[in-house]
Amino acid sequence: MASAFDLHWHWRAWRAQERWSQSKSDIEAWLCSQPKSHECLLLLGGSAGWMMSDRFLDRFTRVVLMDMDPLAGPLFRLRHRRALQGSRKTFVSLKADMHVQLPQLLEDEPHALVLFDNLLGLDTLQTRSIEATQRRLSALSSLLEGRDWGSIHDRFSGPGGALPPLSSSTFHRLSDEAFSPTELIRVVGGSGEWTDHSTHGIFPGGVPTRFVAWPIVPGYWHWLQAGWVGPSFQGSS
Ligand SMILES: C[S@@+](CC[C@H](N)C(=O)[O-])C[C@H]1O[C@@H](n2cnc3c(N)ncnc32)[C@H](O)[C@@H]1O
Repeated sequence: MASAFDLHWHWRAWRAQERWSQSKSDIEAWLCSQPKSHECLLLLGGSAGWMMSDRFLDRFTRVVLMDMDPLAGPLFRLRHRRALQGSRKTFVSLKADMHVQLPQLLEDEPHALVLFDNLLGLDTLQTRSIEATQRRLSALSSLLEGRDWGSIHDRFSGPGGALPPLSSSTFHRLSDEAFSPTELIRVVGGSGEWTDHSTHGIFPGGVPTRFVAWPIVPGYWHWLQAGWVGPSFQGSS
């Protein structure tokens, strides 16, 4: 998946828009479930916003995208120009590694909503070590103490049926406590070896989360887990 200049990811995402449409609408429902209480959005790993919702972006007057991919900013601006335009709107794109730059960004934008947009589940691809990833993810939790933040990230991935067999609406409301990996895998016709992305500890205990099925390529599925954390989100999911 995308890390730096990644044409293959953008090409694949562009071609997959129809196959991803159910996942995108499940993600939009989750994004728009949070209360409208922020003017600024810090979007980390947003790429070109292939799965981002204009309805959600419309809520903010300032959007700051941080991504390591130099194509992310220009493509995001192009794809979401309707939601980003307007005299009161600012869009800033930063090409940076958020593990290095996030502390400064949080200081610069103390009231912004922070969204990890489907990148935390890729961390082991960068560190090549479950322990190192767990250290980085727990450092993030401490950094975000007292802030409003959300994440959508890979929880499991593996081979499954070729066609979307479901509206994931039945499953996207499962709480973390209620979910069963075996059941999630079964509903997408899963078989064979599935990968656990070591993201089970990202949300503090008791945070309500949703699961979204994402057929990344035909016959291969990701189960994404999404949740909101922080003072503004008590009681929402
Ligand atoms: C799966 S893509 C995100 C897709 C995006 N949610 C969308 O709707 O198109 C993951 C993105 O995270 C970015 N990324 C991964 N690790 C990062 C890091 N440490 N700092 C900044 N960006 C990162 C990648 O460059 C990639 O664009």
